[in-house]
Amino acid sequence: MTSDQWRTIKSLPHIPLTGLFDKDGQRVAKFGLEQAGIYFDFSKTHLDGDVVDAFIKLANDMELSAKVAAFLSGESINVSEGRAAEHCAERGTGNPASVANAQALHQRMKSLIEVIDAGVLGDFTQIIHLGIGGSALGPKMLHHALKLGDEKYELEVVSNIDGAALEPVLERFDAKKTLLVIASKTFTTAETLLNARSVLDWMREQGVTDPLGQVVALTASPEQAVEWGIDETRILPFSETVGGRYSLWSSISFSVALALGYEAFADLLAGAAAMDEHFQNTPWDRNIPVLAAFADQYYTQVRGCATRAVFAYDERLSLLPDYLQQLEMESNGKSVTLDGTPLELQSSPIVWGGVGTDAQHAVFQLLHQGTHLVPVEFLAVIEPGDSLDPAHHNGLLLNCFAQGAALMAGKKSDDSDRNYPGDRPSVTLLLEDLEARSLGALLAFYEHRTFVNAALLNINPFDQFGVELGKQMANELADDDGNQLDVSTEELKKRAFGT
Ligand code: F6P
Repeated sequence: MTSDQWRTIKSLPHIPLTGLFDKDGQRVAKFGLEQAGIYFDFSKTHLDGDVVDAFIKLANDMELSAKVAAFLSGESINVSEGRAAEHCAERGTGNPASVANAQALHQRMKSLIEVIDAGVLGDFTQIIHLGIGGSALGPKMLHHALKLGDEKYELEVVSNIDGAALEPVLERFDAKKTLLVIASKTFTTAETLLNARSVLDWMREQGVTDPLGQVVALTASPEQAVEWGIDETRILPFSETVGGRYSLWSSISFSVALALGYEAFADLLAGAAAMDEHFQNTPWDRNIPVLAAFADQYYTQVRGCATRAVFAYDERLSLLPDYLQQLEMESNGKSVTLDGTPLELQSSPIVWGGVGTDAQHAVFQLLHQGTHLVPVEFLAVIEPGDSLDPAHHNGLLLNCFAQGAALMAGKKSDDSDRNYPGDRPSVTLLLEDLEARSLGALLAFYEHRTFVNAALLNINPFDQFGVELGKQMANELADDDGNQLDVSTEELKKRAFGT
């Protein structure tokens, strides 16, 4: 029985982190794992042999092996929407027909990039990529992480409906040299379509005679894009079975592949494929995403941690926390199980974070001495992304490592204000270099970890009905269809619009 197994896990003795190191001289070797150019250090978590064994029993109770097999073979595991979750097919693992389809669609994307690079569609040097959620966060994060600054195309990703996001881009860009990329899985998302209309208006005002001729659409609903007036040859479809927050492996990354070169996209897929292979074929006690999920569940269910913090000690990865927020919170922020019964455990922790060393001087006070226990994840890259005095990069890495050590060791003092309790957990992910391949492996790690967390909770990580009600009410407010609103909302509307 699963609840029995949770009782067992909760009854395991709490051994402080420093005690775990004292007990086991091999701890670093056991809990430091390497894959695809990334070193994952779980040694500063409370995982030990007993905790891992207990979680493996839980994983068996929750039929993790069968769930992974069903997921990676393209079975219809997104039960509430009646479809498979096939982002891994984009990188070569899955139902053979889906893998072949993904490869053909990637080829189509590559061909369009060649056509644009050859100048056949116009003399483009600037790209506006419009999308929101999974249609923006991934591409924006990838581009920020991998761009070198000497690329042929300047790329801006705009997501917000707030005109203040789009207007500065329009003020700076040259309409005749701009390729407009509209990224939307459904091609119905209000923010994206309004922004797209505004860009087309701007193009017209700037004297572009055929604005729609400068548009590329990335979508799983090509018929909607055709209806919108976009020529079929410039629509890059992807499969309906690729979820929005899992879609950067599909044509959703077209703008990034155009800006950075298709090779970068191919390397991204190859890195993810290496992590897929590890996830699929490695026993649970050496399986990196699985161990990460065990630690997540330990802190959430056993130690009552409501949040997890991610700090990238690398400016190039500064957008990763935003991306992970959608991946983890939209996937696992659920309160019913796959059977439709209430979830009796806590679902996804709140994911938050920032960049080091900035965050050290802003929020780390709470991490070291606050009453909340916050598991921390540090990311750092050995090869620097800058060419300044190595003192910068060395200082960055040393600060990162020092924070993990300080959180763990703490420092006792008779002066209560200056007492550091320690025993605060962290995971460190150390990349040899930040390039498309290692980034692909890193993102696939996060996806699989999210999947395993969902499997252990028996929830569906692939739907997102929670976002629908707000969208529906925004439409109702806009329509002003006479439906009675609550008085508080009526008052806000009256103050803003006078009606
Ligand atoms: O509102 C949530 C959501 O559906 C996300 O899941 C998705 O990534 C985003 O909106 C954008 O949707 P689309 O790609 O269909 O425009």
